[in-house]
Amino acid sequence: MSKEKELLLEFETSIQNDSFVRLTLSKPADKDGSLKKVIITLASIKREAHLSFVYRHKTNDITKNLKVVEGKTTVESLISSDFQIANLFTTNGDFQFEKNNSKSSLRKSKPSFKTVPSRGHDKEKRHLIQNTEYLKLLGVLDKNGRVQKDKGDKFKQINKFIEVIDGLLKGSELNQADKLVKVVDMGSGKGYLTFALYDYLSGQLKLPTSITGVEVRQDLIDKCNGIAKAVNFENLDFQLGYIADFSLDKTNILIALHACDTATDDAIAKGMAAEAELIICAPCCHKQVRKSMTGNTGLDSVLQHGILKERQAEIVTDAIRALIMEANGYKTKVFEFISTEHTGKNLMIVGERKRQNPNPQQYLDEVEKLKSQFSISHHYLESLVN
Ligand SMILES: C[S@@+](CC[C@H](N)C(=O)[O-])C[C@H]1O[C@@H](n2cnc3c(N)ncnc32)[C@H](O)[C@@H]1O
Repeated sequence: MSKEKELLLEFETSIQNDSFVRLTLSKPADKDGSLKKVIITLASIKREAHLSFVYRHKTNDITKNLKVVEGKTTVESLISSDFQIANLFTTNGDFQFEKNNSKSSLRKSKPSFKTVPSRGHDKEKRHLIQNTEYLKLLGVLDKNGRVQKDKGDKFKQINKFIEVIDGLLKGSELNQADKLVKVVDMGSGKGYLTFALYDYLSGQLKLPTSITGVEVRQDLIDKCNGIAKAVNFENLDFQLGYIADFSLDKTNILIALHACDTATDDAIAKGMAAEAELIICAPCCHKQVRKSMTGNTGLDSVLQHGILKERQAEIVTDAIRALIMEANGYKTKVFEFISTEHTGKNLMIVGERKRQNPNPQQYLDEVEKLKSQFSISHHYLESLVN
């Protein structure tokens, strides 16, 4: 029996007796191709065993899950034509197979793993982010693809944000392969979420996508444009400017995550004017309304405490934002998008453009009621919309 066949037999046996840990294929036959490695693990998806293939390319990872029978055929073909080295890890032993022109070899050594990993496919959500290269360049992952010590919360936030987008796009008209999805990220900062969104829309959903990040800091613009170029995200760019001054044509999705104070209002107003189908914002500091809370509200015993006033102002600010968006034809949802243990700035306002807006006045009346209840002289978003 050839060494290649011996290895495949060990692989099949390890799956049958549940000792399989992982199979890694490396040293590609095509040295100049983009595919560098394939990592194969076992996963249970909808209670059925699958082989999960991570195809590691130069700049991105692509994951494919195949039923075991189909997966075995793929492994055979990859070993016979595409890779020179295969490392099989089982709880009974490690096997290294190496192809050589004259003769191939198969070496067995002590097992590196004493137990098999969980077969649950609880990592399915994490696969919403596949390209890890930009996360390395942004400093979220280290060079081995592990989350940097101080970036755990940021990594969770990125994943959670993509999960929210994933839910919003299910069944949406924006999710169509033949239409360009134009996105603007107002206050893009270091670009963590901008890159992840581009990766998700264009890499995973395969939608023709263009994303522009708008940011006032030149250093961040330069850094983000450099990384976009390095990872070949061709239709992702970052432009210097203030949100309020940024001229926006028809846009499909507008995001503004943690844009400071009234910058969130500027972004919402721009999104509504550009008739964005989706407006997604996570407001940050809420100074404007707090400062304009004047006079006797009947809530003095609450508002005399700084922290309570701050929290009250946050709630009222965002409630008025949602009402103004409703009045302008957006169905809104306000929710916590990530647990408070990861960030305090965890509120999200999502507006989906409605086909019809039968009675905007009812929402404007509500705005007036809230303003009067809390003695708020004005809300900045109102002035932008009016
Ligand atoms: C807290 S960071 C958030 C960055 C990113 N959106 C995120 O959530 O990871 C806010 C960013 O918005 C930028 N910014 C604040 N006000 C802005 C404005 N009016 N126009 C453009 N950028 C603004 C800041 O420079 C900063 O980089």
